[in-house]
Amino acid sequence: MTKLTGFKQIKTAVFISGRGSNLKNLIKFSKKKKFPLNINLIVSNKKNAQGLIYAKKYNIKKKFINFSNLKNGEKNLIYLLKKEKINFICLAGFMMILSSNFIKKFKGKIINIHPSLLPKYKGLNTHNRVIENNEKFSGCTVHYVTSKLDSGKIILQKKIKIKKNDTSKTLEKKILLKEHILYPLAIKKIFSNL
Ligand code: GRF
Repeated sequence: MTKLTGFKQIKTAVFISGRGSNLKNLIKFSKKKKFPLNINLIVSNKKNAQGLIYAKKYNIKKKFINFSNLKNGEKNLIYLLKKEKINFICLAGFMMILSSNFIKKFKGKIINIHPSLLPKYKGLNTHNRVIENNEKFSGCTVHYVTSKLDSGKIILQKKIKIKKNDTSKTLEKKILLKEHILYPLAIKKIFSNL
């Protein structure tokens, strides 16, 4: 792909644990003109994460990291990120909490997408809890990652109205589509001065 001269995409790693639809979407965006990030590395904490197929499909380096010992896992991860000269990290369905030591090393350079209107509904099973509580709205949030779960500064949020017949399944589908719009937008917002 021809890139504009003088414009260099930031070397980025995407961390996943599962399906990888946000990963795929970010890869697609990274191929567009002037998108701030290039996806150079895919990291998974699950050996068989479905999303790892995109490594082969798009010719991107992938690595499974075993975090059964968190300290060792993070040590290997830091080594890998340095080796690959990674400057930015996008978490996309990465179902693990990184240590504050790791997060400090990449302060302001790790972002995450969460399927709720944070600060509401941090953590797992978001859509179920939202439906159970008869919420009128839900949505998704892109935020900086800090050592507190789903708590860092919000970059962008998208709100949707919940319909009477929505279930956690239909809500998940609707919100995932919004995530695929919101994540690239949030990235563009962060780097809008480039
Ligand atoms: C998304 O809903 C994301 O917001 C959440 O985990 C899900 C990952 O989906 N953190 P995918 O693996 O990107 O398809």
